Amino acid sequence: MTGASGLLGSHVARQAAGRFNTLGLFQNFRPPDIPGRLEPLDLADAAAVRSRLDDFRPDLIVHCAALADADRAQREPDLARRVNVDATATLAQSARRLGAKMLFVSTDLIFDGRKGAPYAEDDPPCPLSLYGQTKLDAEQIVRAGCDAWLIARTSLIYGPSPRGNRSLDEKLGAALREGRAVKLFVDEFRCPIAACNLAAAMLELADSQHTGVFHLVGPERLSRYEIGMRIARRFGWPTTTIEAKSTRDVPTNPPRPADLVLDNSKARSVLKTKLRGLTETLDSLSGNSWDGC
Ligand SMILES: NC(=O)c1ccc[n+]([C@@H]2O[C@H](COP(=O)([O-])OP(=O)(O)OC[C@H]3O[C@@H](n4cnc5c(N)ncnc54)[C@H](OP(=O)(O)O)[C@@H]3O)[C@@H](O)[C@H]2O)c1
Repeated sequence: MTGASGLLGSHVARQAAGRFNTLGLFQNFRPPDIPGRLEPLDLADAAAVRSRLDDFRPDLIVHCAALADADRAQREPDLARRVNVDATATLAQSARRLGAKMLFVSTDLIFDGRKGAPYAEDDPPCPLSLYGQTKLDAEQIVRAGCDAWLIARTSLIYGPSPRGNRSLDEKLGAALREGRAVKLFVDEFRCPIAACNLAAAMLELADSQHTGVFHLVGPERLSRYEIGMRIARRFGWPTTTIEAKSTRDVPTNPPRPADLVLDNSKARSVLKTKLRGLTETLDSLSGNSWDGC
């Protein structure tokens, strides 16, 4: 699996290690406390990727690695294409050559957020950002290039990351504890999901006969402001520096999709793993940590 040092990939690597003979790939940061084999590999080095996969001969490639920071992707389009598109193409070619199934993690940002209703898996995509476009291009490569494939589209991911500074809750907690101002939009809606929950759903799908596109998101439509306030209150962080903002007050180029609700009913109909909302996840935690998530 790729991206073992990332927010989502670290949860996938940890959960997969006991069930499969795994090879977890990262680029710069060796994640601590993850069992199983872990190796550095630059996915932009196509020859090195081909060689390592030919040697390991996986049955399944779970591709979590990406340039997942949409603002950085917009600023560094060449890097975004190399990591998000070209590296996915290399992995898809290896998957076909080796007869492996491929699970690619995609994003709600392939949609423009203007539908006004939940997006189904076969709704036409229309990304507004370069990041969204690279993920859509990669989806198309996986569909066309692999024999057995899964695309797991997800939304905002929360929970602990190996570096401790990647997820929305980690960034929010650091800012609020230091008394820094945090602006959160009241009119930008997402369906957040915990990394541990998403990883469990992905591995269940990957280990099944199912193929195709699945929306793996939480069942709650929440504004970024609601998400931040609920997490801050649950962990007892001061909320006085949180400012409720409208996207109209902070115009961006490209514009941010306003209402990205993905319909997860197809995934719910096949999964035993329950896709949990933020409220349920926060209620299930014991103490002030994500343990038991
Ligand atoms: N985070 C979200 O809210 C969100 C929402 C929707 C979809 N997604 C998708 O979910 C997936 C996981 O996102 P995430 O937020 O967990 O990512 P992340 O925490 O930013 O981690 C990115 C991972 O990709 C690796 N990587 C980057 N460039 C690489 C390269 N050239 N070669 C090898 N590895 C490389 C990083 O390795 P190093 O750390 O070692 O550098 C890291 O393991 C991505 O496909 C993303 O598009 C994320």
